[in-house]
Amino acid sequence: MEYRVLGETDVKVSAITFGAWAIGGWMWGGADRNDAVRAIRAAYNEGVTSIDTAPIYGMGVSEEIVAEAISGIPRDKVQILTKFGMRWDVKEGDFVMKSKDNYGNEIDIYKLASKQSIIKECEDSLRRLKTDYIDLMQLHWPDVTTPISETMEAMEMLLQQGKIRAAGVCNYNVDQMKEANQTLKLASDQVSYSMIYRDIEQELVPYCIENKQSVIAYSPLQRGLLTGKIKPGHQFGEGDTREGNRFYTEDNIIKTNKFLDSIRPLAEVKSATLGQLVLRWTIDQPGITVALAGARNEEQAVQNARAINVKLSNEELLFISTKLKEHGF
Ligand SMILES: NC(=O)c1ccc[n+]([C@@H]2O[C@H](COP(=O)([O-])OP(=O)(O)OC[C@H]3O[C@@H](n4cnc5c(N)ncnc54)[C@H](OP(=O)(O)O)[C@@H]3O)[C@@H](O)[C@H]2O)c1
Repeated sequence: MEYRVLGETDVKVSAITFGAWAIGGWMWGGADRNDAVRAIRAAYNEGVTSIDTAPIYGMGVSEEIVAEAISGIPRDKVQILTKFGMRWDVKEGDFVMKSKDNYGNEIDIYKLASKQSIIKECEDSLRRLKTDYIDLMQLHWPDVTTPISETMEAMEMLLQQGKIRAAGVCNYNVDQMKEANQTLKLASDQVSYSMIYRDIEQELVPYCIENKQSVIAYSPLQRGLLTGKIKPGHQFGEGDTREGNRFYTEDNIIKTNKFLDSIRPLAEVKSATLGQLVLRWTIDQPGITVALAGARNEEQAVQNARAINVKLSNEELLFISTKLKEHGF
C-alpha cells in the first residue's frame, strides 16, 4: 500500500481507503453485516488502514460495523474518517429529503452543522466507534443555515480537545473552502470524482494543490459502474438508489461500457481488473490524495486494495485520457 499525508496535518492514510457507505445499507438496498466486517478486515490485511464512514450511513450502523471490524487492531494502526452534519433525529437545519431507515421507518434528513449539533454528533460517533478520537472529522454537506465560521470554530475546539486529529469537509466548492480557511485551515475536501465525472479538475483541484489541502475522491468506481459489471437493464435490489441515478441511465451505461471496452486491453496487459485500473488512475491524478473505494464483501475489498499494485506510465495515463475524450467523457 501507499500512504499519504492529509493536507498539512500529521495524519497519514492509505491511498486506497475503505468506503463504508454501502455496508451501512442505507440507499444501497441493505447490506450483510458479517460480509461487511470481513470486508474491512480483508482490506486491512492488504494494507488499507483507513476507513471512511458517517453517522448517516445506516443511521449509525456503518460506524458500529467499523468498530466491530477494527476491534482487534491496535487503535494507532488504523485511521477512522467520519462525518457530521446529516441529522435524521432532529427537525432543524436545512431539510434534505424524506427517506427510510434500515427498518423501514420514515425519516426526515436535515443538514445541520451548528456548534451544538457538532459537539453532540462527535460524542455519538465516538461512542458508536468505541474510540476516544477520530482521525479525520468532516462536515458531510454544506449547511446553509449555519455560518461556515461557526462550524469551523466547533471543529477547532474538537481539535484542541484532542477528540479529532484533523478537520475536513465534503462537497465544498472553492468559495466555501476559501471562507472556511479564514477560520480554520482545513486538511481536506472530500468530493465526487471518477474517470467519468471530473468537474473538480477545473477549479477545486488547482485550489487545493496551491493551498496544500487534500482532495479525497468519493465514488471513484461511480458506485460500481466503472467495474464494467453493470449492463443495460441491470436489476437493482429494492432501496438501491443507483436505479434512477443519472450515471445509470441506459444511454450512459452503454456509453460508459464502450469506453471501458476501449481501455480493457490495457487492464489485460497489466493483469488488472477494470476496477483496479480505474482506482489506480484515480490516485495518480494531480491533487488527488485518496480514493475511497466502497466494498460490500471480502472479494471486492481485496480486489480494490490490490489496485495499488498496478503501475501506470505517463504514456498509459495519456492513453486513458485520450480514450476518455474519444468517448465523450
Ligand atoms: N461525502 C460524501 O458526500 C460521500 C458521497 C458518496 C460516497 N462517499 C464515500 O465514498 C465511498 C466510496 O464511494 P461509493 O461507495 O459511493 O462508490 P464506489 O466506491 O465508486 O463504488 C462502491 C460500490 O461498487 C461496487 N464494487 C466495489 N468494488 C467492486 C469490485 N471490486 N467489483 C465489483 N463491484 C464492486 C459495490 O457495490 P455492489 O456490489 O452493490 O455493486 C460497492 O458498494 C463511500 O463508501 C463513502 O465512504 C462520500
